Amino acid sequence: MDGKILLLPGDGIGFEVTEQALKILTAISKKHNRSFTIEKDIVGGAAIDKYGKPLKRDTLNKALNSDAILFGAVGGPKWDDPTIDMRPEDSILTLRKELGLFANIRPIRIYDSLIDKSVIKPEILANVDFIVIRELTGGLYFAKPKRRYTTRTGEKAVDTLRYSEQEIQRVVTLAFELAQSRKKKLTSVDKANVLQTSRLWRDVVKKVSENYPDIALDHILVDACAMELIQKPSKFDVIVAENMFGDILTDEASVLSASMGMLPSASVREIPIEGRTTLGLYEPIHGTAPDIAGKGIANPIAAILSTALLLRYSLGLTEEAAAVELAVNKVLESGLRTSDIAKDNEQVISTEEMGNAIAALI
Ligand code: IPM
Ligand code: MN
Repeated sequence: MDGKILLLPGDGIGFEVTEQALKILTAISKKHNRSFTIEKDIVGGAAIDKYGKPLKRDTLNKALNSDAILFGAVGGPKWDDPTIDMRPEDSILTLRKELGLFANIRPIRIYDSLIDKSVIKPEILANVDFIVIRELTGGLYFAKPKRRYTTRTGEKAVDTLRYSEQEIQRVVTLAFELAQSRKKKLTSVDKANVLQTSRLWRDVVKKVSENYPDIALDHILVDACAMELIQKPSKFDVIVAENMFGDILTDEASVLSASMGMLPSASVREIPIEGRTTLGLYEPIHGTAPDIAGKGIANPIAAILSTALLLRYSLGLTEEAAAVELAVNKVLESGLRTSDIAKDNEQVISTEEMGNAIAALI
């Protein structure tokens, strides 16, 4: 057996895109003679509807006992009521926290065949190839106090931005290691001109950098980084940022690659290099896209590329991962397009057709 995978489609287009990812796993198991056990479970809004909570303890246990989790997306207008203290998003946040997945790896790659589809000028997109490492289990998302309350003068709310030295050190070390295996350039993002957490972040980065004298390190303020990502994206190799900064910057970075429907992510708890594997959760960076859910038009490529990362980082199946990435590239080169990556006059195929086309090339 080559891997125990838990499939959590979630809500909205999460269903449609992970169904295509599953086809890819089937194609890999046939072609490369691998066997995977795949168990499926319900999370997010679907689990609120069925079980009254976004993540059952039992589902969490299954995740802990898997080699990898393939995740779709969670959320939707149906569960957006601010007066209800339970949200679909709690499922993914709890999974990240409970599984200790402190680093989220988001590769930003531009396909030649899609360059003219991006809203960014082609000359700016030349040679863009970087990865963002987003801290995933700390900061504003998790630190306490975190609540909304009523006072004599009206309502108040608080979220807390707290980081420990250890939390920063482990994610930054992972970023240095990944930079080591790439172009040896690391950009650390912070807001050290204003935030105490950022000053600590910067100090820890400097300290860790002493172990990596061959890595060219620079520090950039998050607001400046937001600008440079659009003006000079080719200057980046590896970017490391705290949770919230990383969330925002990666949505911005997805604009470079024509569509959010193209970008995969891997959430891990160990440094996945030199043949080491780690428990990981793999998900497209896009959301549930309620406006197109169920129509069969969503782009499954982000989910399929997430599956490639799963094969590589959690199962150590390097060749198989490369085969998936190659198939995606070929399909794009051949001109097949879902609506999000098609130009006005181009013919458009469905989610399923895209999944089938990629599976056929494996
Ligand atoms: C992401 C998403 C999530 C996040 C949401 C769904 C909680 O935006 O994975 O980037 O903010 O982390
Ligand atoms: Mn996000």
